[in-house]
Amino acid sequence: MPGDGIGKEVITAALTVLKAAGLDGKLEFTHFDWSADRYLKDGTTLPGYADGSGFRKLESDFDAIFVGAFGDPRVASNIHAKEILLGMRFKMDLYANVRPVKLLDESLCPLKGVKPQDVDFTILRENTEGLYCDVGGNFKQGTPDEVAVQEDVNTRKGVERIIRYAFDHARKHGKKKVLMTDKSNVMTYAHGLWQRVFKEVSAEYSDIQPSHMYVDALCMQMVRDPRQFEVIVTNNMFGDIITDLGAALQGGLGMAASGNIHPGKTSMFEPVHGSAPPLAGKNVANPIGAILTAAMMLEHFGLKAEAQKVEAAVLKAVQQKKTTADVGGNLGTRECADWIAKQVAE
Ligand code: NAD
Ligand code: IPM
Ligand code: MN
Repeated sequence: MPGDGIGKEVITAALTVLKAAGLDGKLEFTHFDWSADRYLKDGTTLPGYADGSGFRKLESDFDAIFVGAFGDPRVASNIHAKEILLGMRFKMDLYANVRPVKLLDESLCPLKGVKPQDVDFTILRENTEGLYCDVGGNFKQGTPDEVAVQEDVNTRKGVERIIRYAFDHARKHGKKKVLMTDKSNVMTYAHGLWQRVFKEVSAEYSDIQPSHMYVDALCMQMVRDPRQFEVIVTNNMFGDIITDLGAALQGGLGMAASGNIHPGKTSMFEPVHGSAPPLAGKNVANPIGAILTAAMMLEHFGLKAEAQKVEAAVLKAVQQKKTTADVGGNLGTRECADWIAKQVAE
């Protein structure tokens, strides 16, 4: 599902690389045109949205979903993004949004003297509740007495499973530290729950060191000393915000990959960036975030060797500046993808 804007270009680019990885016969792609264009044409967001049958069909017919981005200035309500993208996250219960923050080359980091080994951690963002639940409403809208309420919904089950996922992720990847970030000093009810659950779950993982920071302090520390982090777990809204900050540490939004995972179920993979309307259709968008996202998807399938081949080719492109301008090269989206595809094929 390429979606809107640069989503279309970066997904085409990533498919070029996947094809070069010799996956013909192993992977079979089905293309869906769900996007702002399609919505404006016939009102479709995701067919079968209302009764959930569209999501059930995605689950039964596919092993994974590879997504570009959604968002178009012509659809002011953003209803298609809400129904397709947030629809998949929520209605397919993809509760773990896995967003690695990994610096590939010193030249890409905006911080002085920070090297690749200094920026290598993963943010686990809760992906199915919190402020994204669409619980709330307006009262006296359009009057001077207007009231707007947006509820932060945190369930015991939802908080526990993402925290557990973070500890399991740490173990699986040989990491020793999990940091939970919240704003429990102010949001005493919602984030008080996170505090209690984190304490309980961390006690079960004696091999992993738990720690905590308030999210404001965490933002400061991510800039001041990103070396200290291995795994960070947080709620939906804070996860959204700190992963853009994390993307900046890696060279910008064009570099950041993500997976929306529910273990054992059909999962969804998308770059962290959006549809970047001003860049769309100009062959300037950085395809690396989407290409690394494709590598994450391969890894998820157990195609480790192929994933590593793609990652190695990306690293080479970054080091040799065979990239788009946002990360120091002078290639277009297609040319960058073709260069990476060629390395992968060799
Ligand atoms: P954005 O990620 O599209 O762009 C933010 C900035 O990063 C811009 O300066 C853009 O030029 C740059 N950028 C992003 N991706 C890049 C790439 N691949 N190469 C080079 N530069 C890149 O975020 P925005 O401008 O806040 O939002 C634009 C639209 O995208 C909105 O409709 C928003 O809702 C949507 N959006 C969608 C997703 C998604 O589908 N997952 C994520 C974020 C934003
Ligand atoms: C992201 C995006 C989405 C989010 C938007 C487009 C709904 O910013 O994937 O980071 O807020 O989760
Ligand atoms: Mn975001």
